[in-house]
Amino acid sequence: MPSSEPAYQQCLNPDCNARFSIGETLTRCPECCDLLDIEYDWDRLPVPRSLRDFESRWGRRNEPLEFSGVWRFRQLLPFAPENQIVTIGEGQTILQQAQAVARYCGLPADGLYLQYEGLNPSGSFKDNGMTAACTHAHMVGAKHAACASTGNTSASLAIFASATHLFRVIVFVGSGKIAYGKLSQALDYGSKTLQIAGDFDDAMSQVQAVCREEKIYLCNSLNPFRLEGQKTIIYRILEALRWEVPDWIVVPGGNLGNSSAFGKALIELKHLGLIDRLPRLAIINARGSNTLYRLWEQQGLRWSGGRPDQEIIDSFFDEMDQSGRRASTLATAIQINRPVNLKKALRALDACDGVVREVSDQEILDAKAQVGSGGFGCEPASAASVAGTKLLRAQGVIAPGDKVVCILTGHQLKDPTTTVAYHAADEEQFDRILGSQGVHAAPFANKPVSVANELDQILEVIRSSR
Ligand code: F0G
Repeated sequence: MPSSEPAYQQCLNPDCNARFSIGETLTRCPECCDLLDIEYDWDRLPVPRSLRDFESRWGRRNEPLEFSGVWRFRQLLPFAPENQIVTIGEGQTILQQAQAVARYCGLPADGLYLQYEGLNPSGSFKDNGMTAACTHAHMVGAKHAACASTGNTSASLAIFASATHLFRVIVFVGSGKIAYGKLSQALDYGSKTLQIAGDFDDAMSQVQAVCREEKIYLCNSLNPFRLEGQKTIIYRILEALRWEVPDWIVVPGGNLGNSSAFGKALIELKHLGLIDRLPRLAIINARGSNTLYRLWEQQGLRWSGGRPDQEIIDSFFDEMDQSGRRASTLATAIQINRPVNLKKALRALDACDGVVREVSDQEILDAKAQVGSGGFGCEPASAASVAGTKLLRAQGVIAPGDKVVCILTGHQLKDPTTTVAYHAADEEQFDRILGSQGVHAAPFANKPVSVANELDQILEVIRSSR
């Protein structure tokens, strides 16, 4: 590593520990194929003395880097020269106390906060990471970028391409299960969209091969720069809580990029003396897509100082392949068999005294209806965090007085098909769309009322429901 570089890429494997320049385009360690981290020589960087130092930034919001909810924290992800940063105004998201949702989860009215990452430009948390990946792509002069996606990553990369015109973009999605809102974004933003005859995991492996072969810049969360951007979700939560650390952060788990980024953010803040304790982390899988739950809770896989038991991992995936078991959930965003950031998520769980839970699609859709009627709404995968909180509270893992933050990862409008099916479908449609995934009731359905185009009948309906 050149000594002039205070930021560098480092292999996650402690037995390898290889370092590479920031200027290299890598997604895995070229020496041992493990994941890479972006690391910093903090002693040589201007680190804020206190997190409160960030508060004055909003006053300068007419400068694009201060307006961005990612880059106003750039001292905590200092890998990019300011004149190379690619921003589209991401990270203007908010934390809201949600009293009705808190009660649903069995918490006091002031015990639960919802972090709405769906308010990002493309409608999901992915924009936090994509601004960082696109910045690095720009730094290394990439003109073509690609990703595989269950829908939100592709929407995010596509919007960065359409809004900046810096890259030509190809997105790979699986067939069938992508939610319409997300597919419509990739198409509308003008990205070349390849629907692979396979699932997300197939698309993920194809995009890596294509990027290697064609020297295209890969924007999945395997890319360590993506995760640097996603760290800022934690900074914004702390900022909204007046820099007070909550007791729990609860996040849906898919490819495990978010949970990995959260762990890294928190470990770094503690290391820098900017917080004095870490929150606990709960990662919530959908039951139909529960690789992490099985490995962490059932098979006892642990971080083990950076040397997780590879035999447990290999035999788990061998069994998955031999039995032909494939992920299947209505929370299509997190329908993933082989989460690429598994090891980093183990590190996050280890640092944050974490737990992993699985919730059914029924629990997810019921929780989603609660977020809709008690807040701004979210897409199905996001509601796994609320369903998981309810479960952890019922199990007594989350205590009655704990302060809990649930990450709502995607916007309510991403998957209208599932929402409308839950609230409004007739029996046949309900069974076709939801029943096959084990959802047989909609206790919180808000059914539309059909009424004739006659004023007196309309008035009758309104008066009878008052
Ligand atoms: N929630 C939403 C709405 C998502 O889109 C994703 C992932 C997750 C949660 C899981 O986050 O992967 O960091 O654990 N979506 C990816 C995609 C896989 O392609 O859009 P994770």
